[in-house]
Amino acid sequence: MKDLALRGAIYSPVADPFLNPPEDCALYEADGLIWIRGGRIQAVGYYGAISQLLPDDIEIRHYPDSILMPGFIDAHIHYPQVEIIGSYGTQLLEWLNKYTFPTEAKFNDPAHARRIAAFFIVELQRNGTTAASVFCTSAPGSVDAIFEAAQADNMLLLAGKMMMDSHAPAEILDTAQSSYDDSKALIERWRNRGRCLYSVTPRFALTSSPRQLELAAALMREYAEVRLQSHISENRAEVARAAELYPERANYTDIYDHYGLLEERAIYGHAIHLSEGELRRFHETGAKIAHCPTSNFFIGSGLFDIAKTRDAARPVTVGLGTDVGGGTSFSMLQTMNEAYKMAQLRGISVTAAQSYFLATLGSAQALGIADRVGKLQPGYAADIAVLDPRATPLLELRAEAAESIDELLFALMICADDRAVEATYVAGELVHDRNG
Ligand code: GUN
Ligand code: ZN
Repeated sequence: MKDLALRGAIYSPVADPFLNPPEDCALYEADGLIWIRGGRIQAVGYYGAISQLLPDDIEIRHYPDSILMPGFIDAHIHYPQVEIIGSYGTQLLEWLNKYTFPTEAKFNDPAHARRIAAFFIVELQRNGTTAASVFCTSAPGSVDAIFEAAQADNMLLLAGKMMMDSHAPAEILDTAQSSYDDSKALIERWRNRGRCLYSVTPRFALTSSPRQLELAAALMREYAEVRLQSHISENRAEVARAAELYPERANYTDIYDHYGLLEERAIYGHAIHLSEGELRRFHETGAKIAHCPTSNFFIGSGLFDIAKTRDAARPVTVGLGTDVGGGTSFSMLQTMNEAYKMAQLRGISVTAAQSYFLATLGSAQALGIADRVGKLQPGYAADIAVLDPRATPLLELRAEAAESIDELLFALMICADDRAVEATYVAGELVHDRNG
């Protein structure tokens, strides 16, 4: 692979703006250059300085009107649910039964899984998303299909087979033992292959027996490199049902905690209705949260409290997720927009720097991959989104009035979507070109 350089404005989060002064948290160069070698960033900074270091024959691609950023990282998404995005009229438990479970059953057919997986990877790239934590279905073939599709483009993907042995239609149920055996076989098959990372994936406490949760924890003990993803406290009826199913546990968080599933490598979607004590337990154990605002609005689940969750006195690490197909957009820009509005309804105005942090480095931290992606820094993967802040007539007019990079970035995340993604690079390769 030949060296490549990308020139344009550069913006990259470098530290957590919820916990540090804003001036320490982002890199901005109005005329910047990223030098890419072997799929990684070799150097990044001011064009006038970095261009002096380049080999003579290097190709420089110039994006004079765009902003180069770390690719977005979607901390929570369901690829099998693409076809039911925007399904009408239900809240969580009815939504699962009416739309989700039937559509997931279709993935017992590997050909269907491959078709949707291919669509899904392209859609991520069209939206500037270069890494994601992906829920599959209970069918092991659904994991093979998404890892194969990701690997074809050398994408960093976390994914896992849904473990669910109770309270769902028989055609998508496994058993505690088969879920352990199938997950273990998938871990063995996919470990050390490209940029694929396995996530042990018990769906949530409502569809797992105590034995299945024990076996999920056993997998976490056996394999140091795997992650864990699940759901918690999204909807009031769900919280009540969890208490009915596990009456001996103090609260929803205590269910996962009791079975050894609350730990640094674990990320839980939603976490809207957690008590102070539960948040404290997340903080103490290092377990992470995926905030999924478009889903929470659409399914009517509630208002996640970003300020309380990230409270510097006991911060919980949070990433941003689309939660498609409960979520309504693949666009992390649109997801930032809805996260902003959700915080507004709680009296908090999240800044642009905080929003872009959550969508990149924050998600990377929440997924345990911040040592390789999430910011533009030498040694990091050249996973890059090229964003056009004048992509539509409205954005063009708005950009004219913007007086700072923060104002421009804020208008972009409120008003833009996939139309603003001019190009996407994965490990230094162009995988999406809006104009090409
Ligand atoms: N809780 C358990 N499963 C799911 C799911 O597929 N989507 C959402 N939004 N919540 C869940
Ligand atoms: Zn989900």
